[in-house]
Amino acid sequence: MKITMIGTGYVGLVTGACLAEFGHKIICMDKDEDKIKRLLAGEIPIYEPGLDELVAKNVREGRLSFATDLNECVSRAQAVFIAVGTPTSRRGDGYADLTYIYAAARDLAPHLQDYTVVIDKSTVPVGTAGQVARVIREENFAADFDVVSNPEFLREGAAINDFMRPDRVVLGTDSERAAEIMKEIYNPLYRISIPFVITNLETAELIKYAANAFLSVKISFINEMANICEEVGADVIDLAKGVGLDGRIGKKFLHAGPGYGGSCFPKDTLALLRIAQENGVATRSVEAAVEINAAQKARMVKKIRDALGGHEAGKTIGVLGLTFKPETDDLRDSPALTILPPLLEKGARIQAHDPQGMAAAARDFPDFNYVDNSYEAAENADVLVLFTEWNQYRALDFEELKVRMKAPVFVDLRNVYSPVKMREAGFIYYGVGRK
Ligand SMILES: NC(=O)c1ccc[n+]([C@@H]2O[C@H](COP(=O)([O-])OP(=O)(O)OC[C@H]3O[C@@H](n4cnc5c(N)ncnc54)[C@H](O)[C@@H]3O)[C@@H](O)[C@H]2O)c1
Repeated sequence: MKITMIGTGYVGLVTGACLAEFGHKIICMDKDEDKIKRLLAGEIPIYEPGLDELVAKNVREGRLSFATDLNECVSRAQAVFIAVGTPTSRRGDGYADLTYIYAAARDLAPHLQDYTVVIDKSTVPVGTAGQVARVIREENFAADFDVVSNPEFLREGAAINDFMRPDRVVLGTDSERAAEIMKEIYNPLYRISIPFVITNLETAELIKYAANAFLSVKISFINEMANICEEVGADVIDLAKGVGLDGRIGKKFLHAGPGYGGSCFPKDTLALLRIAQENGVATRSVEAAVEINAAQKARMVKKIRDALGGHEAGKTIGVLGLTFKPETDDLRDSPALTILPPLLEKGARIQAHDPQGMAAAARDFPDFNYVDNSYEAAENADVLVLFTEWNQYRALDFEELKVRMKAPVFVDLRNVYSPVKMREAGFIYYGVGRK
């Protein structure tokens, strides 16, 4: 099937490459000319494991191409995915900014020729599919199309596997014709018995927010438990194991840490709160998760300050990891970039390393000193803080760190190391939720 992807970011490029791998003919379009130029030159503008090979293979085999011009893509496509960003509105009110969605709908509308399915892949508030249909009709009254909601659940860092073997495919539509086309698009998943949840538009739109909100609640819950553990001398890792082995609860997303971040949870929880408020409904569990998350980050600032003896001015903080999670270069709402600025403002020096995130971080945080490896981050540092659990930070040489650091103080915001072993290695160790 001929398919167009509007928006070639973390979701659009992965979805486009994976659908090409399914055998469809995909044009990935983006208004960012530089991004398309790099893709046309064989460069991958984001870091996502395995994506370079998948893109190269499908380009080579003629199923994947890139463009900045919508005309040539849309007029020949049977399906057009919209995978543009839906960040929190710049007004600061927590609403999702749908400017890019509506712009994409307006741009594609004049090019629709034969019957086309327009698919909202982006995470969008309830009712957006209806608005997308209205915008298209305003621009092209005669267009023959249906809008489908098909939210994406992939995780950066594991995106290809998540797309190829998802827990489910959610399709929101009122049209049988559109549903049939969607089933054809995802036929390879249907054949390996991936469950399809086919529902109305509103439910599909809400499922995505509900899933992210639930996971955010789970993270905030375990972070609160971690804080209790710190006060009473319990250990959150053992607690999470004891709780998570209950099949009704599950082990996943019970990792205490610096608070959630990334390109989805912070913005999607806020957007869900607005959806609920607008409809006169309270969502106190999600409200609490958002508040707990902000408090957790503030608590991490204090934890680092305490590790520095109560004052950060003139001290050097070595930083391991800037991205919001390992195996991505995405810095959006990364905890490190919320927790470090208040320390920097009060006079701390930041000496940071990240395997993939430094180039982008340097644009927004020019005052950090960026170094080439973990040991340079530790050089003369008063404390070394592990923010992101990249594999290369999981087996550090503590003898070398001790030689390089001004003081052997280690703040482990991902609980990678054992407090007992760290103390045996001669470190003053701070974890999250561990005595
Ligand atoms: N990143 C994730 O892990 C993830 C996972 C699931 C769902 N989502 C959702 O998917 C959507 C996209 O997220 P992302 O992380 O891929 O965003 P992104 O910022 O990486 O990519 C969006 C792309 O859309 C392009 N764009 C914007 N307006 C355009 C237009 N009118 N025409 C053409 N291109 C346009 C931008 O230039 C950019 O390249 C969001 O709604 C997000 O919430 C993201």
